[in-house]
Amino acid sequence: MNMMEAIYQRRSIRGYKTDPVSKDVLTKILEAACRAPSAMNTQPWEYIVAGGDVLNDLRAAIVDKLSRKEPMHPDHEAISWPNDSIYRDRQVELAKKIFALMDIQREDKAKRAAWLERGFRFFDAPAAILLLTDRSLSDVGPLLDLGAAMQTICLAALHFGLGTCIEDQGVLYPEVLRERLKIPENKKIVIAIAVGYPDWDFPANSLASGRESLDKNARWMGF
Ligand SMILES: Cc1cc2nc3c(=O)[nH]c(=O)nc-3n(C[C@H](O)[C@H](O)[C@H](O)COP(=O)(O)O)c2cc1C
Repeated sequence: MNMMEAIYQRRSIRGYKTDPVSKDVLTKILEAACRAPSAMNTQPWEYIVAGGDVLNDLRAAIVDKLSRKEPMHPDHEAISWPNDSIYRDRQVELAKKIFALMDIQREDKAKRAAWLERGFRFFDAPAAILLLTDRSLSDVGPLLDLGAAMQTICLAALHFGLGTCIEDQGVLYPEVLRERLKIPENKKIVIAIAVGYPDWDFPANSLASGRESLDKNARWMGF
């Protein structure tokens, strides 16, 4: 797979086979992620990889909090768009597409709740990678560097036949992660990535999300 193929083939995978992902493969992916650029080569990323019983315990503890409707206090607020914005419109469009593929009707509260919970369970992936940074750094500075590492993880995973889903849902109850994964307070938990072998029969995995045409986002000058 060449680079452009990888970029265009990557998509969020929300249904996985149960096959485990070896530590060797995950190591290679994270080593590739560490090749991402960062400001002044500061490399402000840290990774925690969870699998097996550790990940299953996390899922159970997170779902328990969710089902008791406990308030969420994420270390990093990924969702920051106003309700009357194009960003919200795009979010709604995505949800409609996923619900259609998963045969979830708008008024079906039980199915909607089950879908929400699935995200909090890291989509039942056999592995999850958490991306952390140090609280001593500025709130926004390391985000660019972590974003580069995040995309590198997703692209490198493709090389090994793996799928990924970047998800803030996985880090919305940071206190659970902090306690069970022994993450100190001076580390900020920014984002999670579910990793595993895609189940191509899972309906939501056929979603090819759209993009705005480039002429809406780019301005050319001097060409
Ligand atoms: C910062 C970030 C947070 C995300 N959080 C979630 C999430 O919590 N749940 C989810 O299903 N997808 C999540 N996604 C995946 C996006 O919905 C997805 O990237 C977007 O719809 C484009 O689709 P694609 O990845 O298939 O190209 C997240 C992506 C990013 C970059």
